[in-house]
Amino acid sequence: MRLDSITDAIGDTPLVRVDPAVHGLRHIDLYAKLEMLNPFGSVKDRAAWNMVRPGLKAAAEGRHTVVELSSGNTAKALSLLAGMHGVSFKTVTNRIRIPEMRDLLLLLGAEVEELPGQTECLDPSSTDDPLTLFHQELSGSDSPYVYTDQYYNARNTEAHLTGTGPEIVADLGGRAPDHFIACVGTAGSSTGVARVLRAHDPAVHVLGLVAHKADFIPGIRTIDEVQGVGLFDPATYDTIATVTADDAIEGMVTLARRCGMPAGPTGGAAYSGAVRHLRALDAELTERRTAVFIVCDRIEGYLSYVRRRRPDLLGRPVHRNSVATLTDAEVAAATGIDVAAAERWIAEDRPLVVDLRSPFSYAALHIAGSVNIVDELCAELIEGGLPFSKSRPVLLACPVGEQSARYAALLTRMGHPDVRSLSGGIIAWRDAGAPLVRE
Ligand SMILES: Cc1ncc(COP(=O)(O)O)c(C=O)c1O
Repeated sequence: MRLDSITDAIGDTPLVRVDPAVHGLRHIDLYAKLEMLNPFGSVKDRAAWNMVRPGLKAAAEGRHTVVELSSGNTAKALSLLAGMHGVSFKTVTNRIRIPEMRDLLLLLGAEVEELPGQTECLDPSSTDDPLTLFHQELSGSDSPYVYTDQYYNARNTEAHLTGTGPEIVADLGGRAPDHFIACVGTAGSSTGVARVLRAHDPAVHVLGLVAHKADFIPGIRTIDEVQGVGLFDPATYDTIATVTADDAIEGMVTLARRCGMPAGPTGGAAYSGAVRHLRALDAELTERRTAVFIVCDRIEGYLSYVRRRRPDLLGRPVHRNSVATLTDAEVAAATGIDVAAAERWIAEDRPLVVDLRSPFSYAALHIAGSVNIVDELCAELIEGGLPFSKSRPVLLACPVGEQSARYAALLTRMGHPDVRSLSGGIIAWRDAGAPLVRE
């Protein structure tokens, strides 16, 4: 293969059948669309190139900087594309939670501006979020930047309407698969592919996967976060299901160790979510079916992600005091307390109120007298032992009450006699009109 430009290597990725002996489905042929084999390493190469291409000439002539709000693969692809066209690239993002990615972006020549926001992705419903404020500024007509705007730009979806979707149909001999499974970040890839497949066969079933609310899976959003994405339309998906970080890592391990596919967490999550969904249908089938899932990127950039969640996979001891070791029964048994009862409890017993949200969210609004220990820092403290005195009750609060329930379960297991989780989190507290203070 001889090419004039590396951009000619974007797309035309292979569709590879997963060995049935691995997934165990008897009537369904399951294929992986290996987007990790794009030249910059992910499905976002297609969207990045399609979005930035029209603005590159003007950017080079006007010495404008290409800018995007991304903490991952889109920023990586745009860094490389901008660099090869002599244009600078800047990414503005909330806290990057994958340290390898920050270093890689700097190595590729990107300027990285990290804001102390709440989520990694843009949340337009949150007017206090600095990332949202930045998005509004960039969207203004006199912005000095070439803004690729992945959460709203129709050219993101278009890259998959013209590339990924038609390639899948062509590789299946001109037919759409019966099932299509994809993780949802900006929703560009799932929306574009789903449209193409439905045009061939309106009966195709589309399964969109989002991260479980209490989990972080780099590259995709939770069901709450995804609502704010401009390209997201619930009608695209026949089913939306959640996947956990455990699903993602188990799937990664299976794809890497059994299938020769070194996929990242969202590829693993798509595999696990696909097999779980298809297994429920497989027993009833009498005819053969096909299913396709997307492997978005590669495994190598996620070693610290795996080390934190599954140290055993890297030959390190499992932290006994870790939320990853909790059973569903332990989490369900954690003591929750509703807003009205929590207000009374605070007034009467003065528990230590620990707010697990980001420093920015905490500074914006918090329960008076609470202390801010970000969830990840809390996890590290707990690994070393019980960080709070047993003589004082503890009330844990997070955005929606899911993470705090897990930490409450863990601290209870570690012997704390009275730790409770604020049910519904700070959002329920705010919605109930309970008092919040600003720093
Ligand atoms: C690793 C990874 N997986 C999945 C996705 C989701 O793709 P999309 O943005 O097209 O929904 C992304 C998007 O950034 C990603 O980086």
